[in-house]
Amino acid sequence: MIMRKRIVAGNWKMNMEIGSARELARSVCNDLATRADLGLGKGKEVVLFPPYLFLPEVVEICREFVGIHAGAQNCHQEGKGAYTGEIAASMIKSVGATHTLIGHSERRSYFGEDDELLAKKTKAAMENDLTPVFCCGELLPEREANNHFEVVKSQLVNGLFWLEEVAFRHVVIAYEPVWAIGTGVTASPEQAQEMHAFIRGLVKEQYSEEVAENLTILYGGSCNAKNAKELFSNPDVDGGLIGGASLKAHDFLQIIEAL
Ligand code: 13P
Repeated sequence: MIMRKRIVAGNWKMNMEIGSARELARSVCNDLATRADLGLGKGKEVVLFPPYLFLPEVVEICREFVGIHAGAQNCHQEGKGAYTGEIAASMIKSVGATHTLIGHSERRSYFGEDDELLAKKTKAAMENDLTPVFCCGELLPEREANNHFEVVKSQLVNGLFWLEEVAFRHVVIAYEPVWAIGTGVTASPEQAQEMHAFIRGLVKEQYSEEVAENLTILYGGSCNAKNAKELFSNPDVDGGLIGGASLKAHDFLQIIEAL
């Protein structure tokens, strides 16, 4: 049975080089190793999403720590073959990673990834026993036009809701309003809670109340050490997907403390 978890995840995006990546992963793990009080591994998890190149090393660093995992920022939808420059889900799995982001807004906007493609990527991740962290979220004009619920609904319906219930239970959803990503403008705790409750409601309609209650939904977008506690204290916000603030061990640790 897959239960709802509380997760703080760090999306490092295209930052750092091997030395600084290694140092950050070690620093996060060593700090957390002294913090049994945080309850990692007991329904709480930390997941690091470094660039692909550093993933095997970050996996090795995290391996001995309970409740700390590593994942990829993306995966290709095909199993293998002539796709120069791409990385398959089986490759990610083979280095010991456990998760993959799917459909981050930067993938959607800069690399043209649409819902149909993201459904295939989700399938590839699930077939390789990776936990997909499926990202959704509206653009600023969509919120201003009061279309944000419809946009998120269609991303979930097309990208995820084709999954059978047994598979869907493995999915984590990250709500990341695009206007809040890297802008310093955070969704208010009320805006985050409202959307998370909406998402849980959709999952209840599509699957069941029990599936919805056990779904983990993360918030992302300018989440930092100062605002994490208020965001995470909402009943439907189960943690965060952190960009900029995950690149500094001290800030990231403070966010984990807010979980
Ligand atoms: P920031 O925390 O830098 O706004 O990025 C959020 C994000 O995109 C995480 O995936």
